[in-house]
Amino acid sequence: MTMTDEMSAGAAPRPALSAQPILSVRNIESIYDNVILVLRGVSLEVPEGSIVALLGGNGAGKSTTLKSISTMIGAERGRVSKGSIHFRGERTDQLTPGDLVGMGMVQVMEGRMCFGHLTVEENLIAGAYTRKLTKAQMREELDRVYAYFPRLRERRTSQAGYTSGGEQQMTAIGRAMMARPRMLLLDEPSMGLAPQIVAEIFEIVRDLNEKEGVSILLAEQNTSVALKYANYGYILESGRIMMDGPAKALAENKDVREFYLGMSSEGRESFRNRKSYRRKKRWI
Ligand SMILES: Nc1ncnc2c1ncn2[C@@H]1O[C@H](COP(=O)(O)OP(=O)(O)OP(=O)(O)O)[C@@H](O)[C@H]1O
Ligand SMILES: [Mg+2]
Repeated sequence: MTMTDEMSAGAAPRPALSAQPILSVRNIESIYDNVILVLRGVSLEVPEGSIVALLGGNGAGKSTTLKSISTMIGAERGRVSKGSIHFRGERTDQLTPGDLVGMGMVQVMEGRMCFGHLTVEENLIAGAYTRKLTKAQMREELDRVYAYFPRLRERRTSQAGYTSGGEQQMTAIGRAMMARPRMLLLDEPSMGLAPQIVAEIFEIVRDLNEKEGVSILLAEQNTSVALKYANYGYILESGRIMMDGPAKALAENKDVREFYLGMSSEGRESFRNRKSYRRKKRWI
């Protein structure tokens, strides 16, 4: 594939900040079982140290995008069939998830996957499996994570499977942080959680971003929360990026407000009528 091919299709990604992107996805197509084409030319960038939101409804391709980036898609008989992905300047689309973890990228899968039969602390320890830590270093790393997630310190001896949904999500993110990532891929951290818990988790995510300098690519259906915390956003529909821009501009955009934030210009719900939703989708 030539550079020209890679750059030609789809909207050119606009960087959110002036920094060199830590992640660059160029015009990728991703396919499951060799026949189900899900991503159709997705391009995006994550500038170093930023939070970027990947937005879109059910089945838009958010998880597939994250799994293509982490290469976890391979575990589901999927692959990136076109385009390229660069992480920290290196081409990564043909590497393995283990390679990516070694390079500093960790994905937190959708559905807050924890080892339910292990304690919260054992889950966190499992996150450091790629690092050769002494007992004292492990303690230090656990304390570092507990400083961000005080609830997890309280629950550290509880079996993860019996903790609340919010605590499980925190455990999943905390476990990812134990690998000392440079970049986190978070897949719908808000899923199924009460607004107050969602806010608590996003505050911690912002803290991790600011204090640890970890870059974050966040897939979310919860547009309003994601745009509140992200610097930049991309909107995905049917495997294509339909719109992108700084988070503030997206949050103020009329179409985004109408179709993703559930507000019409009069401030009323607009999702009730699917027909008008389709008719008014102007940016397609
Ligand atoms: N393992 C798979 N095999 C075949 N098709 C898949 C697989 N995973 C996802 N798909 C299909 O790819 C499309 C995009 O799914 P994906 O999970 O990426 O969307 P999403 O934006 O994450 O949606 P949601 O918000 O519901 O999590 C869907 O049509 C889905 O059916
Ligand atoms: Mg998903």
